Amino acid sequence: MKILLFGRGGQVGWELQRSLSVLGEVVALDFDSAQNPQGLCGSFSDLDGLAATVQAVKPDVIVNAAAHTAVDKAESEPEFARSLNALAPAVLAAEAKKLNAWMIHYSTDYVFDGSGSTAWRESDATGPLSVYGQTKLEGEQAVATNPKHITLRTSWVYAARGGNFAKTMLRLAGERESLTVIDDQFGAPTSAELLADVTAHVIRAATAKPELAGLYHCVASGETNWHGYAKFVLQTAQALGHSLKAGPEQVAATSTASYPTPAQRPLNSRLNTAKLQAAFGLTLPHWQSGVARMLTEITGKQ
Ligand SMILES: NC(=O)c1ccc[n+]([C@@H]2O[C@H](COP(=O)([O-])OP(=O)(O)OC[C@H]3O[C@@H](n4cnc5c(N)ncnc54)[C@H](OP(=O)(O)O)[C@@H]3O)[C@@H](O)[C@H]2O)c1
Repeated sequence: MKILLFGRGGQVGWELQRSLSVLGEVVALDFDSAQNPQGLCGSFSDLDGLAATVQAVKPDVIVNAAAHTAVDKAESEPEFARSLNALAPAVLAAEAKKLNAWMIHYSTDYVFDGSGSTAWRESDATGPLSVYGQTKLEGEQAVATNPKHITLRTSWVYAARGGNFAKTMLRLAGERESLTVIDDQFGAPTSAELLADVTAHVIRAATAKPELAGLYHCVASGETNWHGYAKFVLQTAQALGHSLKAGPEQVAATSTASYPTPAQRPLNSRLNTAKLQAAFGLTLPHWQSGVARMLTEITGKQ
């Protein structure tokens, strides 16, 4: 099997390089063509270059981990966000269709309006609140024009590599006596490792059974809010022997309303994963196990 991976340097892209390597040949592309084999184009700003790359590589599967993920910045550059999150995936899906190839894509809880407290199902009505959410929704729709597609909607992604919320909390708790964190947005922190492992499994299953194509929610089990997430991070870090100025008891709660940002975030980011678990026979681990593992890794403790 030949797999063409876009966005190899991102949180999910980095882990995909590991998890996909057992499936066959992986051509993993960076945004900068100069870093790619044969100078292949991996830039989502160059739609003709992307199409030419797909036709040159002739993959069996395209995996797209590249995106415009700067949610607040997208509000001031909507056309750029649309080109990365919708137009480029549309080109990849169309080129994949010409080759009868699969397209694997990632989307987000931000396609929903965040109302209520029930975990969203794949069939629920969307209602994005932000440019990021709107352009990611357009990307999902474009990808679905290739019948051989899998889109995994996920939320609150973190990885040991690169910056993330848990690392920011650890840093701030090392510098300050107290922290204040939002407690009215609910979801599940999901590791890039988990997404990459699920992706490899999904590719194997779907290439053998094409009727599995479609849209799935993929997040770790359980739920929390950012305040609960921050407290868990500090508790776990302390248990690992990390020295902090602010412990979990010094994390105060605040509301989204008191912390305005350019992009509006959904309050309810819970995603129901029953469809994915049933279709692929998977069990999704609790969010706390992945976060604890990542903290053990980044603090270098056992
Ligand atoms: N992060 C989250 O919390 C979250 C939540 C829900 C869904 N998702 C979705 O999950 C997927 C993976 O997200 P992630 O967290 O791994 O994102 P990420 O770490 O921000 O990685 C995004 C990747 O896209 C690349 N990229 C940026 N601009 C590009 C361009 N013009 N052309 C080509 N590549 C470009 C980046 O390259 P550089 O590294 O060179 O900038 C990076 O490799 C995305 O579809 C995202 O929408 C993420």
